[in-house]
Amino acid sequence: MAQGIPEEIIDEIRQRTDLVTLVGEYIKLECRGKNMVGLCPFHSEKTPSFTVSPDKQLYHCFGCGASGNVFSLIMQMEKMTFPEAARFLARRAGVRIPEPEKRTSGEENYKEKIYRLNLMAASFYAYCLTKSNTGKKALDYLQKRGINGSTIETFMLGYAPADWTGFFNFARKKGFAPEMMVKAGLVSPGKEKGYYDRFRDRLIFPIANISGKIAGFGGRTLSEGDKSGPKYLNSPETPVFEKGLMLYGLNLAKEEIRRLKSAVVMEGYTDMITAYQAGIKNVVASLGTALTAEQGRLLRHQAETVITAYDSDAAGEAATWRGLAILQRTGCLVRVAEMPAGSDPDSYIRGKGADSFKTLLDRAKPLMEYRLAVLKERYDLISEKGRIDYTEELMAFLNAAVNQVEQDHYLKKAAEVLNVEEEALRQELKRRRRTGTRRREQPEGGIKTFPDRDKIVRAEKILLSLMLQSKEIAERGRNLLEPEYIKDERIREIVEAIWHYSAGEVTCSAEKLLNRFSDPQTTKLITEAATDPSMQDLSSRTAKRMAEDCFWELKQSWENKKRTELVNKLKELEASGTEEEITEFLRKNRNILQCQDSGSYRNGKGGDFND
Ligand code: GTP
Ligand code: MN
Repeated sequence: MAQGIPEEIIDEIRQRTDLVTLVGEYIKLECRGKNMVGLCPFHSEKTPSFTVSPDKQLYHCFGCGASGNVFSLIMQMEKMTFPEAARFLARRAGVRIPEPEKRTSGEENYKEKIYRLNLMAASFYAYCLTKSNTGKKALDYLQKRGINGSTIETFMLGYAPADWTGFFNFARKKGFAPEMMVKAGLVSPGKEKGYYDRFRDRLIFPIANISGKIAGFGGRTLSEGDKSGPKYLNSPETPVFEKGLMLYGLNLAKEEIRRLKSAVVMEGYTDMITAYQAGIKNVVASLGTALTAEQGRLLRHQAETVITAYDSDAAGEAATWRGLAILQRTGCLVRVAEMPAGSDPDSYIRGKGADSFKTLLDRAKPLMEYRLAVLKERYDLISEKGRIDYTEELMAFLNAAVNQVEQDHYLKKAAEVLNVEEEALRQELKRRRRTGTRRREQPEGGIKTFPDRDKIVRAEKILLSLMLQSKEIAERGRNLLEPEYIKDERIREIVEAIWHYSAGEVTCSAEKLLNRFSDPQTTKLITEAATDPSMQDLSSRTAKRMAEDCFWELKQSWENKKRTELVNKLKELEASGTEEEITEFLRKNRNILQCQDSGSYRNGKGGDFND
């Protein structure tokens, strides 16, 4: 399996990787009973439903259903295939994966290779900045901007030399293929021939992902009013660098963000670096673009409050509003720090000091309040037109409120501003709701469901959960049930695997079972069954009782179905068959045909558990 990674190695990786620690590298977890919970990294939520079981080494989100073990976590978080994830974790855990004899470079873990190349590039640029003559002017520039040596080191700042092939030649010597460098966005193919460096004569800011791997780079020009390209040049999108997913500095800031439960978002690299150096360490930079939902989620996983400290000109832009609304929707408590016109956090901190900046942060207004204030400034509330336009925007704004309490609060404030009755505004809001987007309601007549099937599948799920807890129940199931009794195909496959693995052995662990299946629906069923909160901490007596009920239900349901089939068959025979055929049929199927649709099985033979 797993493209030639031996089974024992997969097992070893699993044993050496603690899921709680691994999850902790992405999100903040808190203890809840036996489990740890946090905000799901796979969907937006405000209350934690992402549950990690340290005992079982499984995670499950009760919100979106994401679930799995250490491998699936990495597959989902890092968007890797199973073999890629296995190699990723192997490296992390210090497990060596024996390489199969002949492996062409294309087969090797692509993303890992780009990360490795990026790291090498970062050290090359860092060397050029701090140890070579060519980097002298860049180093002077940083010093002039007040960025000290240890900060340069922490952020792995660098300098890309001005000649066109400095990096290319270096990486070539290190054995990297030019195509790889192109894929990583570090060089471009020349028009005629050869390759040239993307970053030339620029200050280099390596951009790390949350776990500290270098995903891409930003390069700042060193000459003001330069004609040779943009002020900042970033890496292009690559397999590991997706812009809307990154937050500059998050890998360094995450500890402090978690500690303070609050993050400060700035626009630029230098803003973030200066703040960090000045001791304000819960900072990240959004890199000049409007925030995305993914970035919002990244932040929400670490922090409850997010304070934005954008340059004053950017704060009023529509794109900024959109970004902040998105942030709010991911469940962050968003506050806006007002920067004086003409300054950004970097210049402010250098000019007025960190303490003064902290005061700005402390005074940050909740997003809604801030927006309401801006709105009020924007319209002339004396004129009829101004009031209409204001109300128009206000409605959209109130609709964005996270909850009823907040909406009421701002509705009250807006009514004061407009000097109208609160109730009038509330009616207006209601009226728009009604005519606006249709509510999601039950389709007329309801959805046709099959209660029998639902009930059975529920019993199958309970059984699955019980079989994963107790070898004895799994054994008893093997004796009592036939695979065909299980209606849900996926559950049937899982149960068969349990019977296969629990033979003679200890209880078949869900975690081990997971690697047998690649179908996400199946793995979801397994983790759900293993982590179902209603199935935890059952006494062995209760567990066995429940199991008996389920066995009975499955068997009965199967017999009912069979009986219906047989009765139909019998009708056919009665119409067209001979008397002998009918007698033979009745004799052969007597057991099932006679069976009553009752609880007889439960009290019948087939030795119950003896407890
Ligand atoms: P300094 O001038 O070095 O202090 O940078 P700054 O961070 O103050 O720059 P600015 O406020 O102009 O822009 C904020 C952020 O937007 C930067 O840090 C970049 O991430 C991004 N940005 C600015 N200019 C460009 C550009 O020309 N191209 C790209 N891709 N991004 C830019
Ligand atoms: Mn600046």
